[in-house]
Amino acid sequence: MLHPRALLVFALAISSARATIRFGCSQLVTERFDPFNLTMRPTDDYSELATCTTCRFKEDTSNYWTAVLYFKHDNGTYSRVPQKANHWVGETNGGFTVYYIAGYPPFQPVTAFAKGFRMITGDPMLRSKGDRDLTSAETYAITFRCWETDQLESPWVGSNQHAPGVGEYDTVGLPSKFCPGGIRSNIFFPTCWDGINLDPPDHASHVRYPTGPVDERLGVIWHEGACPATHPVKLPTILYEIAWDTGSFKDVWPTDGRQPLIMSMGDPTGVGQHADYVFGWKGDSLQRAMDNCKDQFGYPEECHELTLQTDEEMNQCRKQAQVPEVVEGEYLSALPGCNPEQYGPEPATTVEGCSAVSTTVGSLVTPTLSPSP
Ligand SMILES: *[C@@H]1O[C@H](CO)[C@@H](O)[C@H](O)[C@H]1NC(C)=O
Ligand SMILES: *[C@@H]1O[C@H](CO)[C@@H](O)[C@H](O)[C@H]1NC(C)=O
Repeated sequence: MLHPRALLVFALAISSARATIRFGCSQLVTERFDPFNLTMRPTDDYSELATCTTCRFKEDTSNYWTAVLYFKHDNGTYSRVPQKANHWVGETNGGFTVYYIAGYPPFQPVTAFAKGFRMITGDPMLRSKGDRDLTSAETYAITFRCWETDQLESPWVGSNQHAPGVGEYDTVGLPSKFCPGGIRSNIFFPTCWDGINLDPPDHASHVRYPTGPVDERLGVIWHEGACPATHPVKLPTILYEIAWDTGSFKDVWPTDGRQPLIMSMGDPTGVGQHADYVFGWKGDSLQRAMDNCKDQFGYPEECHELTLQTDEEMNQCRKQAQVPEVVEGEYLSALPGCNPEQYGPEPATTVEGCSAVSTTVGSLVTPTLSPSP
């Protein structure tokens, strides 16, 4: 199943082996809200509540969420850009590829997330990173890869042979040109935890990115920065890859140089790309995988701690949308919700008096890790 040339590319890209699991998750549902804001109560235990999972491992009922991408036609209507299966994840229905990577430097033990842990990375209001430290892991944590060739047919050449998160094919905003093979979102979550808070009100201050400048040749994925003293606990590194099928818009791509892509929160820059993670692995399964699954390519079949399910089982797991609203499958006259286009560079603002279907819940409970008895 492993392509020999893939081996070569990874052997070049990876200077030394790291424990990794890498797997696909089919698309569960597309709808207009951030799960933190409408349905997901911090007290819910997803490993108990979920009836199925779209992910490769049966033990994983975590929730993986990100904003989606639209294409703006010349006549001003919008179509949702479909997701497609990434390379080497099987026949998943769109969705995500998720990595959990243990250890910087290699095989350093990591502490799996505690029950109730949740985090958000990225800022939906951001439209420019101009004043940020351009060498930091935080700046390069959320980027886009412009695929110049179809990565399913030729995953080992050109625009796919570099590690994600910095490099000549990754940009912090949406690529400004047509990418025939599609565009991949590369979203790395922070990997250093304060060891106390599971989900503070801002969903973010309990975690930090590792310090130090990112080496351009290695990217964020092999960045070996230390955790700051305030956030000393090393977590597995989570990376989401989402493959957007922009190639399918070839015939309607603007000829006047206009950049036609826009993220669902009204962001044509892409700098506001953001994602949520809600931990939901059963029991100690993730910790066992991080301790024992040392295949450097992260192939699910090589991780004997966990239980595989088939593509069919993954694709059958679906959820009804909670907001009754058309978000895809037709030409939309506006982006769903109250999300006008906001180009920046100043941060976006929230629309006052939005009459769209509710997207908020009241005050959130803030869980903390209870000390072991
Ligand atoms: C939830 O909604 C409120 C009000 O619209 C907003 O201020 C907040 O940023 C949202 N939180 C998340 C995590 O999206
Ligand atoms: C807008 O453009 C698209 C793509 O060319 C076309 O299919 C669609 O019918 C148009 N919609 C309207 C309302 O003009």
